[in-house]
Parts: sequence; structure tokens; C-alpha cells
Amino acid sequence: MAGPEDPKEQLKVNAGARAVDFVEDGMRLGLGTGSTAAWFVKALAERVRDVGWTVTCVPTSERTHALAAGLGLDLTTLDKIGWLDLTVDGADEFDGELNLIKGGGGALLREKIVATASDRMIVIADDEKQVARLGAFPLPVEVVRFGWETTRAIIEDTLTEAGIAEPKMMLRMDGDAPFDTDEGHLILDLHLGAIENPRVLALLLNQIPGVVEHGLFIDVADMVIVGDSDGETKIIGGEMPDLV
Ligand code: 5RP
Repeated sequence: MAGPEDPKEQLKVNAGARAVDFVEDGMRLGLGTGSTAAWFVKALAERVRDVGWTVTCVPTSERTHALAAGLGLDLTTLDKIGWLDLTVDGADEFDGELNLIKGGGGALLREKIVATASDRMIVIADDEKQVARLGAFPLPVEVVRFGWETTRAIIEDTLTEAGIAEPKMMLRMDGDAPFDTDEGHLILDLHLGAIENPRVLALLLNQIPGVVEHGLFIDVADMVIVGDSDGETKIIGGEMPDLV
């Protein structure tokens, strides 16, 4: 597998490659979305080719589908397979309780459905993704197109009532047009600075009718594999694997 020229990217490569050690022959896998997840998909395809594993994969986006299909991985849909053994995905931020912000790549809805339908979720990340408190990264919220401006106003009221004064919310754009998710929805990026209580905010957002899903992943991740700048990988949470 060709490595990246950017040394920062190498941390993602290392985390993605390390995650393959947690895969076993016959597993049903969820494949995440984003630059780090893409390195996992590439490392997985290489291992599958080398050792002749049979693994069946559910991609979390059209992008990852195209990548995995191009690498010859066996793909299916969540509806056909029903449940997964393991999902490996990136994150925009993770805290000490392994709660996450995801959705920087706009795939948070399918990512959350797939991770939730998995026995285990492993997050792979470079060391800059670890934070004491979530929220410096803008929180993506996926909303339906119908009445989205009203939904936006309700989100603003909800945040204000929760003590977050004048929250800045940006409609995500793709050039001149609003960003379109794989499910045809819009994304509002909430610039919150710091999220005092992610668990409560997650519930409040889920109660708003026009909100399809948000990027707070609470109690979903079991383990984080961090690519450290010293070239090593660090495992947070979960159990160490038996190294082959
Ligand atoms: C996509 C995601 C990604 O996992 C997240 O944005 C991290 O991406 P990257 O590995 O490129 O930093 O949630 O919706």
C-alpha cells in the first residue's frame, strides 16, 4: 500500500492499519467514511487479499462504497445482513469517555445507523482529535429540507434555553449549493465552542422533528486507536487484541 507524503496523514495510516488487527475471518464489518477510514479500508483490502479472508462489508457512504468496491471488498447492505460484528470509523473529536463528534464528512446518519447496528465500534484517529471537552469542532446536525429554516430556528431556541447564548449555525455548502447528504438532507454546523453536557444536548436535538440525526455519538464507541506523532498507535478503552 502506497503511503502518504504528508507526515500527519501517516498517523491516520497507522491507526487504520492497526484496526485491521481486530478483524477476523468471517466478520461482518461496517466501513466508516473520511480520510482515516479510507486508510482502514485500504489496509483491510490488502489483508483480505493477502490471507484470503472472507469478510462482508457495509459502507457508510457512497464515497466509501466506491472505494471499497474498487478494492474488491465484498459489499452488502445493512438490510440484507441485519447486524454487524464490528464497525471501524474515524471521528472529528473524541473525549475521555469515548463520546464523539462525527459528521465532518457529512455521513453521520448512515455512520450512526451502522455503528449502532454493530457489536463493537472502533474509532481510528490522529492525536489531534482527542479533546478534554467536545465542541471546538462544529457539531453537524442533519435536517430534512422541508421547513429547514424553521427547524434551524427551533434548534437555536433549544440551544438558548439550554444556556448556549447566540449559537452560530451555518448551513453547510458545497460550492454555491447546499451540501446534499447521501440521504438527500441538509447539514447545519453548530459552532458551540464547548459542549457542557453532550448527553443532554444529544437528547434535546433528537426531540426536534426536523432533525434527522446529529453528530454526537454517545456511548457508541468501544475503543479508540490513536495514531501518535511518535509513530506508534495508542489504544484507549476496549481490550488489547492477541497479536498475531
Ligand atoms: C464523516 C466523519 C469522519 O469520520 C470524520 O469527519 C473524520 O474524518 P477524517 O478521518 O477525514 O478526519 O464523521 O462523516
